[in-house]
Amino acid sequence: MVAFSKILGLSLFAIPAWAGNYKEPYRPQFHFSPAKNWINDPAGLVHHNGMYHMYFQYNPGGIEWGNMSWGHATSDDLTHWEEQPVALLARGYPESASEMFFTGSAVADVHNTSGFAVEDKTPLVAIYTSSYPIAQTLPSGKKVREEQQSQSIAYSLDDGMTWTTYDAGNPVIHNPPAPYEKQYKNFRDPFVFWHDQTRKWILVTALAEIHKLVLWSSDNLKDWQVESEFGPFNAVGGVWECPNLFPLAVDDDESNMKWVMVLGLNPGGPPGTVGSGTQFFIGSFDGKIFIPDDESVHPGNQTSNWMDWGPDYYAAASFNGLEDSDRTVIGWMNNWQYATKIPANPWHGAMAAPRHLSLKTIDEKTTLIQQPHENLRAIESNGSMLSSWKTFSEGEKGLGSVGKTMDIELEFISSDAKEFGIVLQATPDWKQQTRVGYNFANKEIFVDRTESGDTSFDKTFASVYHAPLTPNSQGVVRLRILVDWSSVEVFGGEGETTLTAQIFPSRNATFAQLFSIGGSTKNVELGIHKVSSVWN
Ligand SMILES: *[C@@H]1O[C@H](CO)[C@@H](O)[C@H](O)[C@H]1NC(C)=O
Ligand SMILES: *[C@@H]1O[C@H](CO)[C@@H](O)[C@H](O)[C@H]1NC(C)=O
Ligand SMILES: *[C@@H]1O[C@H](CO)[C@@H](O)[C@H](O)[C@H]1NC(C)=O
Ligand SMILES: *[C@@H]1O[C@H](CO)[C@@H](O)[C@H](O)[C@H]1NC(C)=O
Ligand SMILES: *[C@@H]1O[C@H](CO)[C@@H](O)[C@H](O)[C@H]1NC(C)=O
Repeated sequence: MVAFSKILGLSLFAIPAWAGNYKEPYRPQFHFSPAKNWINDPAGLVHHNGMYHMYFQYNPGGIEWGNMSWGHATSDDLTHWEEQPVALLARGYPESASEMFFTGSAVADVHNTSGFAVEDKTPLVAIYTSSYPIAQTLPSGKKVREEQQSQSIAYSLDDGMTWTTYDAGNPVIHNPPAPYEKQYKNFRDPFVFWHDQTRKWILVTALAEIHKLVLWSSDNLKDWQVESEFGPFNAVGGVWECPNLFPLAVDDDESNMKWVMVLGLNPGGPPGTVGSGTQFFIGSFDGKIFIPDDESVHPGNQTSNWMDWGPDYYAAASFNGLEDSDRTVIGWMNNWQYATKIPANPWHGAMAAPRHLSLKTIDEKTTLIQQPHENLRAIESNGSMLSSWKTFSEGEKGLGSVGKTMDIELEFISSDAKEFGIVLQATPDWKQQTRVGYNFANKEIFVDRTESGDTSFDKTFASVYHAPLTPNSQGVVRLRILVDWSSVEVFGGEGETTLTAQIFPSRNATFAQLFSIGGSTKNVELGIHKVSSVWN
């Protein structure tokens, strides 16, 4: 959650009668977006009893940020989502809120460490940031100051559908630890998980303004003690928030586990972007201290390991309740720079496609690999458009009207071209188009959305974004591109580089073509799989 206070003007948007048919202009067809209203960070992602629960920052009363509550959606396959009633409604809503529920996380407390279990019901426990707009004395007797952020818990005994806040004890982490007490207005986004080796709950929270994370442990999810702190390291633009910490096996070897710390920066994202970004560190964690590997830290230098090089991937959160080998994350596909101004209506905000994470040794370096979750294949057409060219001469080759929801696989080898790539979401007159390609000299993927459709709502939106990608040992460049009505997500190589960008093209922007600029390109292979709508 970002510290975001903005004076809101008049509501310009009336909600039309057709709200929620999921056919509105720019409505994502295979990404989650709420029927109406504002969303931001995913929160409380937990897989429990065969169901994926995704909670998220939600305004039940508007299309801009406000009234922050936890919305809720469920899925049994990570592609079809069913929006559920609001899980944690801002206290005081619809009048002025006395407590808002900011970003957090959730676990299934299978051992009843919290004591919340009743009969045979496993409690789900959520930990979230309580944001208090006004000073007050809480039911627990604890006093909070105006604009204080503290960490609180709630539990559910009906598998995540309804929640009870722990009023007798909240907030369970009242203030930031010494010597950071002054940071009480920017202390947020608790990410909790069970650490089997020490048999404790571990929690990571952000001291957003001073670019530090605090790691805590607990036996019961209620009493927390400080174990260590982390940061500042690498990129320190704006605030640090939305941390996540989880283990991944290196090269599928479960005897060689490393830990990955992920966190959001806002503003201060990747080079060439404006606004939000997500960085990560690979290191080790012993239940107390997270130590980043030397190759993960760039001292005196604000570069970073960027989880995504595009402008629209933020607040990435991972699921609790899955095997380590099934680590799955969902990011908010938006950017605080223009999140409230995007032309979507009657909702603002969507989630990026769920990603599967792993670690792989590439060029002797432990590398974070991200791929679209394999369940996406189940909603793809089996007959795909396949083409190949031994030599693709300089120029363009039209592919016709290929549609607006696709999973594209494109690979090629350098010959003498400067750039090779694909034009997507183009109108029949090519006036609107989004270019996704590769620059051989710079060894960079690029996404050019300067003419992608409606770019008028923010002066920074019409831009070109770049991400580093080295061809593989055979010289092959691989791009997998997920295209939806208002987004492109590029996964380069084996998934060592990703780049996510929103676009807002017209409905008739269904055309595509390949291009090779400045010379020819070899061994081009193209596959286009249509992706079905999960809503219609
Ligand atoms: C909060 O919700 C109330 C009630 O629906 C609404 O009137 C108000 O505009 C909302 N505030 C914001 C900032 O969206
Ligand atoms: C869970 O723990 C509480 C507190 O110790 C206890 O009262 C309750 O009976 C326990 N429930 C179960 C199902 O073990
Ligand atoms: C910062 O660190 C990166 C990664 O190690 C390196 O490529 C880059 O050259 C460094 N930049 C400066 C200005 O030192
Ligand atoms: C494609 O085939 C797979 C495997 O047979 C199936 O699960 C999937 O539903 C099919 N996709 C579509 C869109 O029909
Ligand atoms: C595509 O749709 C837009 C918006 O409706 C319209 O202005 C434009 O003329 C159309 N372009 C073509 C070539 O049909």
